[in-house]
Amino acid sequence: MTGKQASVDNPVFARVWTFLTRHEPAAVRALRQQNLAGLTGRVLEVGAGTGTNFMLYPESVGEVVALEPESRLADVARETAAGAPVPVTVTECTIEALPPDDEFDAVVCSLVLCSVDDPDTVLRQLLARLRPGGQLRYLEHVASPGLRGRLQRLADATVWPRIAGNCHTHRDTERRIAAAGFTPQTARHELLFPSWVPVPVSEVALGEAIRPAA
Ligand SMILES: C[S@@+](CC[C@H](N)C(=O)[O-])C[C@H]1O[C@@H](n2cnc3c(N)ncnc32)[C@H](O)[C@@H]1O
Repeated sequence: MTGKQASVDNPVFARVWTFLTRHEPAAVRALRQQNLAGLTGRVLEVGAGTGTNFMLYPESVGEVVALEPESRLADVARETAAGAPVPVTVTECTIEALPPDDEFDAVVCSLVLCSVDDPDTVLRQLLARLRPGGQLRYLEHVASPGLRGRLQRLADATVWPRIAGNCHTHRDTERRIAAAGFTPQTARHELLFPSWVPVPVSEVALGEAIRPAA
């Protein structure tokens, strides 16, 4: 995807992701819940997929504006939104193509900064969408050291982005978040599989960073 393209057409990934999110392990759900805990006000969720996060928003959230550029996933997300505990609207749109006229109390990214073409540009756009003091909450695949890191680099250079919706597993996303101008607040890493299992998407980072007050 290049420039300000508004949509993504990926029917195979849409089907696979819909299946995977319907069979997601409880441990991943728990991480999602932690990523959303304590949020308030207006929230922008980028690349919502099937809307797996929607049921997990706390009732302190006033409104979620969810972007999902893949039309089949956006349709599923709209169905999920209908049962959410907070008001959620789903817009079929990339973050790059969203008109720049809205401000949010928080931005939520889960498993999406690995999938955008230009994470540095997207992160600067996210910073601009937040009010001063607003929060970025993220749950993201991140680069691992050692053998898993080498496996990630191999996966990223070969089939993984093609079969996994442009997912790049070896991104140093937290360094990019800080470089975009966010102030890191909390962060921790988890492995989704036992350390001996050679899966490139095992390591995730869960954290919060804020837009500094002006
Ligand atoms: C791996 S899925 C994760 C979906 C969801 N965030 C979740 O946690 O289940 C990545 C999602 O990002 C979306 N996406 C890819 N590029 C995007 C962009 N530039 N702007 C917004 N969403 C994007 C894809 O369509 C896909 O639904």
